[in-house]
Amino acid sequence: MLKGKKIVLGITGSIAAYKAALLVRLLVKEGAEVQVIMTPSAKEFITPLTLSTLSGRAVLSEFFHSESGAWNSHVELGLWADAMIVAPATAATIGKMAGGIADNLLVTTYLSMKAPVLVAPAMDLDMYAHPSTQRNLDILRSYGNHIIEPAEGELASHLKGKGRMEEPQNIVERLRELFFVKGPLAGKKILVTAGPTYEKIDPVRFIGNYSSGKMGFAIAHECARAGAEVTLVAGPVALPTPHASIKRVDVESARQMHAASSEAFRACDAAILCAAVADYRPSQQADKKIKRTDENMTIELEANPDIAASLGAVKREGQLLAGFALETNDALSNARLKLKKKNLDFIVLNSLEDKGAGFAVDTNKVTIIDDSGATEYPLKSKAAVARDIVAHLARLFMMLVLLFAPLTIEAQELNATVSLNTSKVQGTNTEVFTVLKDALTEFINNRRWTEYTYEEYERIACNFTFVVDGYSDDGSFTCSLMVQGSRPVFGSTYSSTLFKYEDKGIKFTYQPYDRLEFNEDNLDNNLTAVIAFYAYLIIGLDMDSMGELGGSEFLNRALNIANNAQNLGDSGWRAGSSNNNRYTVIDDYMNGAMEPLRRLYYKYHRLGLDTMFKDAEAGRKVITECMTMLQEAYNNRPLAYITKLFTEYKQDEFVNLYSFEGGAAEKQGVVKILSEINPSQSDAWDRILRTR
Ligand code: CTP
Repeated sequence: MLKGKKIVLGITGSIAAYKAALLVRLLVKEGAEVQVIMTPSAKEFITPLTLSTLSGRAVLSEFFHSESGAWNSHVELGLWADAMIVAPATAATIGKMAGGIADNLLVTTYLSMKAPVLVAPAMDLDMYAHPSTQRNLDILRSYGNHIIEPAEGELASHLKGKGRMEEPQNIVERLRELFFVKGPLAGKKILVTAGPTYEKIDPVRFIGNYSSGKMGFAIAHECARAGAEVTLVAGPVALPTPHASIKRVDVESARQMHAASSEAFRACDAAILCAAVADYRPSQQADKKIKRTDENMTIELEANPDIAASLGAVKREGQLLAGFALETNDALSNARLKLKKKNLDFIVLNSLEDKGAGFAVDTNKVTIIDDSGATEYPLKSKAAVARDIVAHLARLFMMLVLLFAPLTIEAQELNATVSLNTSKVQGTNTEVFTVLKDALTEFINNRRWTEYTYEEYERIACNFTFVVDGYSDDGSFTCSLMVQGSRPVFGSTYSSTLFKYEDKGIKFTYQPYDRLEFNEDNLDNNLTAVIAFYAYLIIGLDMDSMGELGGSEFLNRALNIANNAQNLGDSGWRAGSSNNNRYTVIDDYMNGAMEPLRRLYYKYHRLGLDTMFKDAEAGRKVITECMTMLQEAYNNRPLAYITKLFTEYKQDEFVNLYSFEGGAAEKQGVVKILSEINPSQSDAWDRILRTR
């Protein structure tokens, strides 16, 4: 994850400087390049030699080399770095950073830094708690710096408290999070409210509630992990900011939360409102502590703004709004009422009646309700619930994309990795291979294969692996190509293979810097024809997996290429010459008798795999039903190669799906079909039967 990242690590004079050595080691181990800068006093705690040995780069500390007079350019470092970490950061350095006091190389570099900055304070608990330090940290936050709050624990002074520098492993984790921008919510701005609100009675008393903020913080964390830019408006809670990229706004009362949320929501794509906002506040807030009298006392309350309803009222088209409902009775109907009343897109219901749900505990049991219905989830950790909620939000965004899809292209369809294995032709000019690999990567990834808009995260992952079997200096190549396409499975990190095929004996010519051209109706380049064929095939199968028979347009284009290529004279295209070449693969897919296989693509992936995150058992049952469709396709055309091919690239998936799950009869049914279609894989199918 940190491979190739350039990190400036600033070390200051704290006893925690010894931990910097481990930090350097971890960063280097992750593949990062680390440039250490030390303040003069840091050298009292750890030697530059240790750090230069670990980082493999000379440590910088002075503006000038005293001997050579060479200047250490803080400006260049500011441009070079992908991130700067100041760890440990003393109160003095934090103060200098906040105030712009550039009297050493570390602070000047900080002031020139173009990349994100993480600051890991380390100091004694009283120094940390001092308003001066806190104000300086707030100033750094307002500059957009990420403060990695110190942990509680024993300090160098032997006192216990907050001030210990965060452990190097966690600092690396925060850095990783910062670079982790891809994900289903990449590019989205999301507001999350969390925690209770405190409504002041007098300077020392308030009305509050038991909300711990854990659920909201877990959601903010998940949104950030999914690539969103998160603003977390937090009531008074005792929780650290869970992700380095989160912008946190601390508030106390409902009115402050309302103001901060309304401000943030304008620039946001969605808001998830988890805060337990006090519905009422004391009408009068005494300036001085209210004294005890012998009389009873009544506090008059007045209504607070309903943040959810007020955001619901100003919500724009395309913005999404989600809330929580905490109910004790008539949960579903009350939650539905709130959904309507507050103009929410979905509402997360948790009932205090459920054991393990609600405030302060680390688990929760929720039902997500939107216009299309209610989905009940089992009791899970709050982190897992947060993932479910974020997955639901991502799905609603995806539906919006389909609704409002403009016809302009933003990202291309395929996200291909191209590799060239040239071990069989060593000793020849190697530049051509590098250039060809780059040209192919560009051709596949940057070409506009469809008219649709593909968001970055929707691009189809695929691999084109060429094994060069023969090459001569006139530019003629003979290659095998292993091509594979896959799609992500909803609600998980797993990808399912859509197509995988080894295409042997592809001949083409290529000279360095030849332009790769492709014209569907006038094929004159076998290499680009082959690539375009697989590009359309993979896109078509991906679309078949999203909507029943949804990929016809692109599968037909692949068929069209195979038809037009009949005159090319190149191998692999000829109709009738084999039951296993490009022509027959696509001709079979598009044959009416094989339609059950194409319909299976939708049922298997969309209705089966994609629903397994909610209910693994139900998802697997759908997949078992798909086996009948596979059998039907096979019965219709027993000689067609693609049913067998399908069982081959899905083989591991089948084994995983059924090895430990499913009843004996279900397994036997599945294995019977698979063994008939593909007897050569009997070992794998036996494995399904053997387990449990
Ligand atoms: N909410 C809010 N502002 C308020 C009250 C609630 O934004 N002043 C939000 C909460 O963050 C939550 C949702 O509205 O997402 C529902 O909160 P809840 O307290 O269950 O609903 P209320 O509208 O206050 O209804 P009641 O307390 O009467 O059940």
